[in-house]
Amino acid sequence: MAFSILGTGSAVPAKVVTNADLSVFLDTNDEWISTRTGISERRVLTAESLTDLAAAAAERALAAANVHAAELDFILWTTLRGDQLFPSLSSRASGRSGASCPALDVNAACSGFLFALDVARAYFAAGLAKRMLIVCAEAMSRLVDWTDRSTAVLFGDAAGAVVLGPGEGPLALRLTTMCNEEWLVADVPSGNSPFAPYSPGSFVKMNGREVFKFAVSSIEKDIRLLCEQAGVSPEEVDLYLLHQANLRIIEAARERLNLPPERFPTNIQRYGNTSSATIPLLLDELARAGKIQNGQLLFFSAFGAGLATGSCLLRWEAYNKKEESA
Ligand code: ACO
Repeated sequence: MAFSILGTGSAVPAKVVTNADLSVFLDTNDEWISTRTGISERRVLTAESLTDLAAAAAERALAAANVHAAELDFILWTTLRGDQLFPSLSSRASGRSGASCPALDVNAACSGFLFALDVARAYFAAGLAKRMLIVCAEAMSRLVDWTDRSTAVLFGDAAGAVVLGPGEGPLALRLTTMCNEEWLVADVPSGNSPFAPYSPGSFVKMNGREVFKFAVSSIEKDIRLLCEQAGVSPEEVDLYLLHQANLRIIEAARERLNLPPERFPTNIQRYGNTSSATIPLLLDELARAGKIQNGQLLFFSAFGAGLATGSCLLRWEAYNKKEESA
């Protein structure tokens, strides 16, 4: 026995930045960005904090699941970087949500949601939790160099959340981590210790082509492997919710598996790459639009800095569980 998803939530900043907006101060244009990535616009934090966004997503997921913050046994907040180094995003956002259970920041870059699901699986399996919350909240606009057209156009800010209760899922889950500091990296500044060399830190630096190739092959590999482990064929999976990093990555993986495009919903067009938030954000949109049916098989797959990858196959049973608890 592990978990089921009882409810989903999300929050995005109010500020919309279109490709045309970017071309005002970057040597880029809508044609290049939309054909190379699929992205038309993204949301960017202005007056809001990341804590605001994370707490709003949490609140919506709790309301959807009909679970009160006081019922939570554990919260996992995934982020590349919170508003402050400390207190952690966990401490700040948990406090805002009215929860007092233990909470932990998880940084597995864009694969954070999958890493959090795996930790949650262990908590449920060990009988340590009956209700858990995962919130993925990212402020990519603070990590990219807004003078670098090769990265600034790709990212956006968002938060996505799920509430978990006991259930049958996941059918299969796989994580990988390897050390690669060349393809995707952002350095933190050193301190001003008189005993160590000074380094100023850096914004996101990326070898897009290498990450692209890695992503397509890791997604394809995980889909084949996890389906085989669960005894289902890739054709039987109803919806593939893949990390929204580039529409062409999703397309390339889909083509390799020869699966129909309607099984691969996307929203990268409106939000860009929001790191660990992309999958829960997409999941929330689909669930609220009634586009996921009870009993359907869902496949999540993400990749990102680390390099870290994560994939999960599960059966959607959210509304069953809600009806039971009503
Ligand atoms: N506007 C216009 N031209 C641009 C832009 C831009 N925004 N960015 C790059 N170009 C130019 C380049 O300078 C290059 O010009 P040149 O041929 O004269 O040298 C040309 O466009 C082609 O550049 P490429 O980098 O080869 O373009 P490519 O088709 O590979 O697309 C991209 C680049 C979109 C970054 C792609 O490689 C990609 O999506 N890679 C994966 C990225 C990804 O998934 N990252 C995950 C990050 S998640 C995390 O963990 C933080």
